[in-house]
Amino acid sequence: MLFPFCRRLTSGNRSPFSYFIRIHHGHTAAGPHFAHDILVASRRHRIGERMRASRTRSILVTGCAGFIGFHVARRLLEERYRVVGLDNLNAYYDVSLKQARLAQLISQTGFEFLKADLASREGTESLFKQHQFDYVVHLAAQAGVRYSISDPYAYVDSNLAGFAHLLEGCRRGGIKHLVFASSSSVYGANTRMPFSPHQPADHPISLYAATKKANEAMAHAYAHLYRFPATGLRFFTVYGPWGRPDMALFLFTRAILEGRPIDVFNCGVMLRDFTYIDDATEAVARVMLRPAEPNLDWRSDQPDSASSSAPYRLYNVGNSQPVDLNELIKTLEAKLGKKAQVNLLEMQPGDVPATSADISDLTRDIGFRPSTPLAVGVGRFVDWYRSYYGL
Ligand SMILES: NC(=O)c1ccc[n+]([C@@H]2O[C@H](COP(=O)([O-])OP(=O)(O)OC[C@H]3O[C@@H](n4cnc5c(N)ncnc54)[C@H](O)[C@@H]3O)[C@@H](O)[C@H]2O)c1
Repeated sequence: MLFPFCRRLTSGNRSPFSYFIRIHHGHTAAGPHFAHDILVASRRHRIGERMRASRTRSILVTGCAGFIGFHVARRLLEERYRVVGLDNLNAYYDVSLKQARLAQLISQTGFEFLKADLASREGTESLFKQHQFDYVVHLAAQAGVRYSISDPYAYVDSNLAGFAHLLEGCRRGGIKHLVFASSSSVYGANTRMPFSPHQPADHPISLYAATKKANEAMAHAYAHLYRFPATGLRFFTVYGPWGRPDMALFLFTRAILEGRPIDVFNCGVMLRDFTYIDDATEAVARVMLRPAEPNLDWRSDQPDSASSSAPYRLYNVGNSQPVDLNELIKTLEAKLGKKAQVNLLEMQPGDVPATSADISDLTRDIGFRPSTPLAVGVGRFVDWYRSYYGL
């Protein structure tokens, strides 16, 4: 079954989606809702074919139509890897934004798109049977803290079942390194700042955070059992062009430009370690090429949470300069040249009041430190927003 948007877009020959070809179709016992459609998108012009020959290493980027996955896939293509991008294009937020990101990727040589749902066990098995990947960068997930209260099963399907299927594929596929997205939200009820991956993080306060914490534990078990290197990245509020419409910067920008009030939780007394997307992308690309190794000093009687006797690591990916939400709003107002009308609200269940990242391990191991100033990043986001929406 082709998805409706594919049918629509394939009717015109100028859309990048006209390059879609369906190569596989399957159904799970759960029926067509979980159908595993694999669509291939690649440009088959002569220059493309020539260049692809030099692209020897193949990387699976899951969640490639999502915010971070799109940027990571684009970056890896620029570095001349072959990128197989996978996404189920779910409707958690505006699907046309996902399609627009995908259109950018499809126009690049070396990219192949698979429309597939990792929650389908059979589909994920066949994906790893049909492809040999060197690296897997796993960014597909049901994201969002607040939504995990209204639709918990989306998190169970994508983040728990989907992650288990991916791990099985990775260990059977003999990949060199799995890099997967965790989240700062795993720090949950912790209050000692900055958050360090070496401190225990055993008290998640949302189901989303609990699934991310579970992913870390599952990846560790596989790294231990099958000795395949796995690294978890705890992202701290990533923002920037092509960002996520459910996140504060996007919501605020839209509301201010439309003259609507913005909802500010906990009266704006919220610290967030905003991380610019190019910094996050750089960190992912560097970590990927540095497969996790066993920590030879790791002690089972004093277990360090960020490493292991197995090839497993955890890093924070943050800017390490937390900013008050009110400061974000002021920065945004300055860039938009327009004042926000503010609707002050209580803290939302599941949200944490502050995040701040200790990134010393990341900086030491990959030689890179996220550092884009908020004003620069917000400026680039607003420029993108205006141009994308033609405002
Ligand atoms: N953006 C942030 O600030 C942030 C912070 C912490 C952690 N993360 C994590 O980073 C990763 C990427 O986040 P993002 O902001 O790009 O989110 P996103 O929602 O924009 O991207 C996730 C993509 O995964 C796809 N997807 C979801 N479930 C899937 C499934 N079962 N099979 C196939 N595809 C599926 C979605 O369609 C989406 O395009 C996620 O794991 C998220 O939890 C993000």
